[in-house]
Amino acid sequence: MNPSTNQYIDLDRFPFVPSGTPEWQRLVDIHKNALEANGASIMKGVIKQDILNRMAREADIVLPESYACRDSHNPFLDKDDLSLPEDHPRRQKQSTSLNSIPYDIISPSHALHQLYNWSPLKEFLSAVLGHKLYPMADPMAALTINVMEEGQNHGWHYDESQVTITLMIQKPESGGIFECVPDLRNEDNDKYFKLGSILGGAEDGILSLPVEPGDILIFAGFYSLHRVTPVAGNKTRYVATLCYKDRPGVMNSPEVQQIFYGRVNQG
Ligand SMILES: [Fe+2]
Repeated sequence: MNPSTNQYIDLDRFPFVPSGTPEWQRLVDIHKNALEANGASIMKGVIKQDILNRMAREADIVLPESYACRDSHNPFLDKDDLSLPEDHPRRQKQSTSLNSIPYDIISPSHALHQLYNWSPLKEFLSAVLGHKLYPMADPMAALTINVMEEGQNHGWHYDESQVTITLMIQKPESGGIFECVPDLRNEDNDKYFKLGSILGGAEDGILSLPVEPGDILIFAGFYSLHRVTPVAGNKTRYVATLCYKDRPGVMNSPEVQQIFYGRVNQG
């Protein structure tokens, strides 16, 4: 028999249940403060290794149905602004190559699916973010596993949502490093100059986040430029994005679904 979701978690270090205890509140405060101060907070080693192994095996099963996303985008993921000079940082193209496993092909019996819908996790993350979270209603984007194999990468970008929550399931042999430049979003001349130098290859100000399998990362990806460096070796990098919203019923448009998943599913 499969373990219940409570048994996925190292509850001694992460007392998600019962909620509202002094230990629970202390943990909420630690991550809330870190997120406010640094734009990121890492919960180290939340998920037990045997469950991560199961999640990786379950991802392997649906991997053949994943969508190969090959994209060339600017860091803001928006339309090319032809009114700006061609060498403006806003117009610099980044390439991304990854595969995505959408929620609608992750079986409800899979461990990751159960974790995503586990109320104590939702409640804890709601307290960290300071508002009630609801699972996204989008049948594909609500929960996605990003898959990267040898040579694949995610180019420099800002996220469209304010905060992104990820779980690293499996780490590659090398590469696949999550790098970020905190708080670079402001669109003034200074920040554009800095953005231009990073896109041009400067390394000053880039942080590598020490994310390991089992870690849940809470990241203010709208404000911080970030990327994943190319993966090397035979081991696949699996990172899940758990998408919660501040109101129920939020869906992506058919156009956005088509870009990220190569098909439309409006539920
Ligand atoms: Fe991102």
